Amino acid sequence: MKPVVVIGFGGFGREIAWLAKECGRSVLGFLDDGIEPGRKGDYAVLGHSSTWVDYPDAEFVVAIGNPRVRRRVVERLDAEGMDKFTTLVHPSVKMDDSVVIGEGALICAGCMATVDIKIGRHVILNLNVTVGHDDVIEDFVTVAPMVALSGNVTLESGVEVGTGAAIRQGVVMSSGSMLGMGGVLTKDAEPNRVYIGSPAKPFKELPEFI
Ligand SMILES: CC(C)(COP(=O)(O)OP(=O)(O)OC[C@H]1O[C@@H](n2cnc3c(N)ncnc32)[C@H](O)[C@@H]1OP(=O)(O)O)[C@@H](O)C(=O)NCCC(=O)NCCS
Repeated sequence: MKPVVVIGFGGFGREIAWLAKECGRSVLGFLDDGIEPGRKGDYAVLGHSSTWVDYPDAEFVVAIGNPRVRRRVVERLDAEGMDKFTTLVHPSVKMDDSVVIGEGALICAGCMATVDIKIGRHVILNLNVTVGHDDVIEDFVTVAPMVALSGNVTLESGVEVGTGAAIRQGVVMSSGSMLGMGGVLTKDAEPNRVYIGSPAKPFKELPEFI
């Protein structure tokens, strides 16, 4: 298996380096656009993300939790000709063969996805997320730890779901919307709007995702 380079040297990036190791991959180091290259404790920051071409034998993941920032970085790398994104699924994850997972997706320890589920490109499912039947999770969605998605839920591109939130069956979160931690979403969410509470209500607006 090819070694992995993690793009994004934050706390989440270090968690994803651990995920890669749990998946039996070696980790060459990190690329980050805002940090001077060099050794940082046990970790090696190799350079700016555009230096990915210097690692022809590696595969890459983008470990940036914010969907808007992640999409910007991925689109720039796509434009630079990047064709080496890899997908990491922790060995503890349980899912049926009917689950389809897109390139660059990161599925962390303890997640469970049942049947007929679509998970898009560069989706992040953090620790212990449960995903119900027929859910559609589009590109660049970020789901925080301990979230419960009922069946037939749609999370459109760039949606973010906070820690410990729950979503009722059949609900659609439109592109760029967000559910705050602990929220219980019982109705569809408008695009680029944050919801909080139980039952969740609109809280504030976010910049356009598309
Ligand atoms: C919803 C959220 C985006 C709001 O962030 P924010 O705009 O910076 O809001 P603030 O922290 O300034 O809080 C504003 C008010 O909303 C309350 N609030 C914030 N988040 C809340 C939530 N999830 N549920 C209920 N109330 C919340 C705050 O207590 C505060 O109340 P106050 O005005 O009475 O003091 C954020 O709190 C959140 O839930 N983010 C997700 C975090 C997460 O899951 N991270 C995962 C990391 S892996």
